[in-house]
Amino acid sequence: MASTSIPQASSAPEIPALGIGPRLAYLLMLAGMLPVAITGIGTFVLGQAPMTHWVLMAHVGASPVFAVGLTLVALTWPSREARYGSFSWFLFWLLLFAGWIVVLSGVLPMTPLLGTEGQHFLYLTHRYAGMAVAILTVLHLLSLRPRR
Ligand code: HEM
Repeated sequence: MASTSIPQASSAPEIPALGIGPRLAYLLMLAGMLPVAITGIGTFVLGQAPMTHWVLMAHVGASPVFAVGLTLVALTWPSREARYGSFSWFLFWLLLFAGWIVVLSGVLPMTPLLGTEGQHFLYLTHRYAGMAVAILTVLHLLSLRPRR
């Protein structure tokens, strides 16, 4: 007698686990963010704006670590982020978006491309996007609990 096989319900593809590479990328981003957030937000909060002297040098000196970390996070996290649920996913993409605004608005004013008014606009964009990035990072870290 011919046996009929019952088709199995196809299970959803498994989301890859967060390996050592993505964890290191996130740590690198945090390692760069800490000094730039302290110097940048600290300058504003203490009423010392605009940033000058060694504080500015420390800020700009640490900024490539943040930019490289952010790039590595963008390359290694998207396929895994769904592990943590939709709110975390939303925070993650907002963080990447705000992070790139911060990087671009930090680097572009160092060129004469946009004129004095454009530089001033980007300076303010950078300041407030930087604060948003710091807040989003804390919220995103808090959201990193694998869903059941
Ligand atoms: C590639 C990354 C970054 C670069 C190249 C960069 C560069 C700069 C530069 C050159 C300034 C001084 C602007 C001026 O005086 O005209 C500045 C200010 C500032 N940065 Fe960044 N930055 C970066 C990342 C960040 C991040 C990640 C944060 C926050 C988490 C941040 C927060 C700030 C703040 C709040 C100010 C304004 C300080 C003030 O009120 O004068 N920056 N940044």
